[in-house]
Amino acid sequence: MNIITSPEDMQKTALALRRAGKRIGLVPTMGFLHEGHLSLIKLARRQANVVVLSIFVNPTQFGPNEDFSRYPRDFERDAALCKAAGVDIIFNPVPEAMYPAGYSVHVEENALSKGLCGASRPGHFRGVLTVVAKLFNLTLPDVAVFGQKDAQQARLIQQMARDLNFPVTIVLAPIIREADGLAKSSRNTYLSPAERREALCLQQALKTARRLYREGERDGQQIITAMKSGIEQIHSARVDYIAIVDRDKLQRVQRIEAPILVALAVQIGKTHLIDNLTLPEDGLSNLPE
Ligand code: PAJ
Repeated sequence: MNIITSPEDMQKTALALRRAGKRIGLVPTMGFLHEGHLSLIKLARRQANVVVLSIFVNPTQFGPNEDFSRYPRDFERDAALCKAAGVDIIFNPVPEAMYPAGYSVHVEENALSKGLCGASRPGHFRGVLTVVAKLFNLTLPDVAVFGQKDAQQARLIQQMARDLNFPVTIVLAPIIREADGLAKSSRNTYLSPAERREALCLQQALKTARRLYREGERDGQQIITAMKSGIEQIHSARVDYIAIVDRDKLQRVQRIEAPILVALAVQIGKTHLIDNLTLPEDGLSNLPE
């Protein structure tokens, strides 16, 4: 396994691999890897000869009051996990190499990025799209894998690849969960034992939505109200948003007719957690019964 830190070296290596006829698979991450990330590696390996995993805690996608400086980092552990999972190259640049002095170009999306997490995290998706565009140009992937855990992010990256003509296939990976159903996240390490228990309210709310949907409820607001009242019982929980949106444009729907995404973001203590459910279920959300 190769570890590359310089963007120039990464691009030269990727160009040489492409010229040699290799298919490159990219898994972009911010590190502190868990089984969610490892499942993305597995999918990439199936579709590519060479798997590049990037580890870069991207400063431009964190707001001024967010957790950039305390975001968990452990490169040695990540490298060992990557090696065992069959990653060929880790790309691990420093912020100054990705954003040198005078850096001034960003990628902005003006429709899908406005709602859900975009509403409460202004500038977040601009940072995400910019760094992913840079990663595409540096690693030249044939295929790139993103998790349904961050459903809005994945949808935005598909849109960017389409609108900016990146020659890359975007693959979506199902949500990987803990044994008790909590969606795996690097941020789960912030939770105290009490908060860890209370964090189950996200999936409980999604189960409420699924139950009502199965019973035939098609009024979005009825479902949202039921989800909200469950979360309001939880002492440390503060709802950021609960939304029912269409899968394509991510716009709120009143009556559920076409496939939808039920998405929510909840603050548990100081920790921002997200989760989602696709209805009808298609295996992407992996919500336990
Ligand atoms: P990060 O949060 O490290 O996530 C990296 C990738 O792993 C994303 O595609 C995310 O959706 C996926 N992922 C995270 N938790 C998952 C889970 N429980 N199951 C399945 N997939 C999961 O998302 C980012 O980093 C950054 O925004 C990035 C795209 C790297 C740009 O900086």
